Amino acid sequence: MSVWTSREFDNHEQVCFFSDAETGLRAIVAIHSTFLGPAAGGTRFKSYDTEDAALDDALRLSRAMSYKSALAGMPVGGGKSVIIGDPGSIKTRALLHAYGRFIDRIGNTYATGEDVGITVADIDTVAEVTRFVGGTSGGAGDPSVHTADGFVHGLRAVLESRFHTGSFEGVRVGVQGLGAVGWRIAERLHAGGAKLVVADVRPEIVDRAIRDFGATSVSTELIHQADVDIYAPCALGGVITESSVGEIRAKAVAGAANNQLAAARAGALLSERNILFAPDFVINAGGIISGLEAASRMPGRKPIELPPLAERLAAIHDRLAEIFRRSRADRRPPEVTAEQMAREIIGR
Ligand code: NAI
Repeated sequence: MSVWTSREFDNHEQVCFFSDAETGLRAIVAIHSTFLGPAAGGTRFKSYDTEDAALDDALRLSRAMSYKSALAGMPVGGGKSVIIGDPGSIKTRALLHAYGRFIDRIGNTYATGEDVGITVADIDTVAEVTRFVGGTSGGAGDPSVHTADGFVHGLRAVLESRFHTGSFEGVRVGVQGLGAVGWRIAERLHAGGAKLVVADVRPEIVDRAIRDFGATSVSTELIHQADVDIYAPCALGGVITESSVGEIRAKAVAGAANNQLAAARAGALLSERNILFAPDFVINAGGIISGLEAASRMPGRKPIELPPLAERLAAIHDRLAEIFRRSRADRRPPEVTAEQMAREIIGR
């Protein structure tokens, strides 16, 4: 495994590998850019087929965090961690403490929080040994609440741009993944009058969505083909592949999952099919936006004057609308326009 030869490397500033034999911890912390400030990005706890796959995931997610913070106008850089292994079998208090001590050793360059496989309670445990964490129960709390709020603002920009309406009434949305973020998004869309088609690997949560939201369910293999207006991937990344694009019936793809496009070509194909794609690192920025107050209180950091959180989350709408406008004018897919805007901001 080589960091420098990974196709996801993109001149990362720092990549740390940590291990702790006693607890079985193996973790990678990738710091893409600190151009705008100390890096921030959650911790993903997951089994990977290979170590290379774990490294690539950390690098890809970390770069997306640089883009996310840059486009959200935050004085924050991009980083991300992965802990390798099945959280269901190896996650212990001792392992989370060992991990926290490593995060503390990196110091003021990076702070972390929750992601897939890590809960707010886990972050509270990590916070017992380091102050470089956000999203604790006593701080900004579960970021998925803010991610969902910000997402709904962004989805309005999608509605306006692709469907020429600002209302969710009667809009059919296919939600893939009813976890921390997906469930809250479904809740908000249902309240706004949207009709939901849902899929999750957990049958009990699907049953709950049918009961609570009057949702229709489809299998996890078929959700991307559902007869809906908007397809919202809210589970894991890489779900939009060159071969799956042709099967999508929605007119827009907008979800909270990070790195939804398996390859750049998949995004180009969406655009060729006139399916509007909302770049994930713009529409799902609510969580990181909500962590700014906590980040500014970490050791060695300066306090920052901030507009109220609700205002910062609502700004996702305007940013996305601007990206859609520019992408139409440039005749390029929205994610290409957004990436270029972000790279200019971080001096790349
Ligand atoms: P989660 O782990 O709470 O939820 C994931 C959900 O997807 C679970 O309900 C799981 O059963 C389901 N799932 C797993 N495989 C599936 C499949 N093949 N088909 C359908 N459903 C499947 O994770 P969370 O926090 O909701 O995050 C979801 C995505 O959003 C991730 O990609 C994460 O990186 C991204 N994200 C999360 C943020 C947050 O604030 N939690 C912020 C920004 C992005």
